[in-house]
Amino acid sequence: MTFPARIERFRTVDSTQRIVREWLDAGTDEVAVAVAEYQTAGRGRQGREWLAPAGKALLLSVGFRPRALAAQHAWRLPATVSLAMRDAAEEAAGLKDGTLWLKWPNDMVAEGPRVGLVKVAGVLGESALVDDRVESAVIGIGINSDWRATDFPWAIAPAMTSLRELAGRRPIDNEQLLDAFLARLEPRYEGLQRGQFDVGGWSANQVTTTRHVDVELAGERVGGTATGVDPETGALLVSGDDGRDHAVDSGEVIRCRVA
Ligand code: BTN
Repeated sequence: MTFPARIERFRTVDSTQRIVREWLDAGTDEVAVAVAEYQTAGRGRQGREWLAPAGKALLLSVGFRPRALAAQHAWRLPATVSLAMRDAAEEAAGLKDGTLWLKWPNDMVAEGPRVGLVKVAGVLGESALVDDRVESAVIGIGINSDWRATDFPWAIAPAMTSLRELAGRRPIDNEQLLDAFLARLEPRYEGLQRGQFDVGGWSANQVTTTRHVDVELAGERVGGTATGVDPETGALLVSGDDGRDHAVDSGEVIRCRVA
């Protein structure tokens, strides 16, 4: 099987998510990848917009038709994409192993220059489910690659960084990063198709584990120490400040600090 079966590069699109969803609905084979230099209506999780200047981030969506992925394991697709990109980004930017972490549910982060975590990339998973199976899925990732700190939007600058900044202001080549990502995605996805998921990598790379987190879900907040992630459900496991154990299966970590 050719990997990917289809890949197209665009200068400007509204959102690569829309493009790949349309491809899948029209019958395109997996794995299908759309890459954009710029998006006019980039979408983030929870209805947020996703902005990046032209050519300064790697913006792409990957379309999958998993053969036998149970709906309850749909979260493993964005997790697989995140793991492939984490490894690719460390290599392409020449970063020390352990510079980049995953932050539940689907962010890639690094330790900030002062205290706290700063976001490098975000992943958006959109699945179509049929009879308890994932019939198709579009997983989008936007990673701040060659973006200079001096050009970060002031409102989010304290909470973000880029591979370029982490690499000591060395320019980052998006094509090299894309190649490194696809080379890692292929074996990881083949494994997933055979029912194998890198539970160890997924757990070991979670920056939240042992930290105190505040998680927001549907207007509610849970505060406590993150103890890990559930390999079956993908839930964030939190030993709550309220004395109860929580398995949080959706939401956002809005604060994360050393416990
Ligand atoms: C998030 O952290 O909120 C997820 C951001 C996902 C952004 C990427 S950029 C490429 C793809 N196309 C989109 O419109 N969104 C995703």
